[in-house]
Amino acid sequence: MSSNDDPKTNGADSDAHVSPSSATHTIPYIILFFILGMAASMVLGWLIFPQLLYSQKNQPVDFNHRLHLELVDQSCQSCHFFREDGTFSGAPKLAQCIDCHDQQLGLSENEKVFFEQYVAKGREVPWLVYARQPDCVFFSHAAHVEGARMDCVTCHGYTGTSESLRPYEENRISGYSRDIWGRKISGLKSNSWDRMKMSDCAKCHTQFADIHDSSVQTRRDACFVCHK
Ligand code: HEC
Ligand code: HEC
Ligand code: HEC
Ligand code: HEC
Ligand code: HEC
Repeated sequence: MSSNDDPKTNGADSDAHVSPSSATHTIPYIILFFILGMAASMVLGWLIFPQLLYSQKNQPVDFNHRLHLELVDQSCQSCHFFREDGTFSGAPKLAQCIDCHDQQLGLSENEKVFFEQYVAKGREVPWLVYARQPDCVFFSHAAHVEGARMDCVTCHGYTGTSESLRPYEENRISGYSRDIWGRKISGLKSNSWDRMKMSDCAKCHTQFADIHDSSVQTRRDACFVCHK
């Protein structure tokens, strides 16, 4: 009696639960569950996972670039300058702040922390460097800023004119700063400063080789141009 087992020939009176009409009715639900599942995993993968992947640390003191730029003589060079030997000073030392901050200048909580924790104790501020590369990488500001006349914004974005230092984000697995590893999980860049991995350095060096009179080294792009 194989025909009895076939719901198509027996219709509703054999086994109501597997009737063809109820089977077709469940299809939209299956598709709906599939779409919901997809959406849930996309939210997890694109929004929640990146949140979990990075830990956030606040800078020890918030620094207001915009406020200070109006007060200093030589804009950026007042704090980030090239030493006589061509090396870059990087993050400023406390001595550069003390010229003005030998006493408390304002009433803000932020300056109070800066003054009491660092100036009064003579301790350097342990700034977190967003652009920090691993120790094996050799990078020269002089080659880019003085040699190739590049703007700070190309690699750093608008930190130099900001009113506040954003939190430092560190990749929990690799230990890299998010500025190196990439802002977007999709890997797409909308700005030149969104990521600074090996491929990003190399890509620009190849592009520049055509329009810029590159040194033999960057043209070759050998490992020891950027590694030590
Ligand atoms: C009065 C001193 C001062 C002046 C002037 C100044 N900066 Fe800064 N800058 C700082 C301090 C303090 C930090 C925090 C250190 C850090 O984040 O590495 C900083 C951090 C930065 C950083 C972040 C580097 C990183 O990866 O962490 C950039 C980029 C920067 N400054 C660019 C500029 C530019 C561009 C100008 C000029 C338009 C400028 N700064 C002028 C004091 C100064
Ligand atoms: C040219 C003088 C000058 C130099 C150099 C300078 N500052 Fe200031 N700074 C000021 C003045 C003026 C204010 C504003 C005080 C006020 O009225 O609140 C200020 C304010 C601040 C504040 C409080 C801002 C806020 O958010 O309320 C901090 C923090 C600070 N400075 C840190 C630094 C650090 C760190 C350095 C060294 C890298 C530095 N300053 C170098 C003059 C200077
Ligand atoms: C070609 C890209 C590029 C340009 C242009 C550039 N930087 Fe950087 N900057 C970097 C990289 C990469 C690092 C990290 C270096 C490292 O970790 O050894 C860095 C680090 C820094 C730091 C932190 C250094 C430290 O060790 O304390 C400061 C401050 C900074 N840059 C400011 C500037 C300023 C100001 C300008 C413009 C005058 C500028 N940078 C231009 C790529 C660039
Ligand atoms: C947006 C373009 C750009 C980016 C991004 C960039 N560079 Fe460069 N780099 C240049 C140019 C232009 C020169 C100068 C070329 C020359 O004079 O040969 C240069 C020169 C250098 C030199 C000196 C080579 C020599 O022969 O003296 C080193 C080292 C270097 N880059 C390392 C790096 C590293 C490491 C990174 C990534 C963290 C990086 N660069 C990112 C454009 C870039
Ligand atoms: C244009 C500059 C540049 C050149 C040329 C370059 N690198 Fe790199 N490399 C970097 C930077 C910047 C990083 C750190 C960011 C990253 O991991 O992408 C890095 C990271 C690495 C790492 C990972 C190190 C770690 O601690 O995570 C390895 C391995 C490496 N490079 C090998 C090489 C080899 C092999 C070559 C030659 C074929 C080479 N690189 C050429 C810039 C360069």
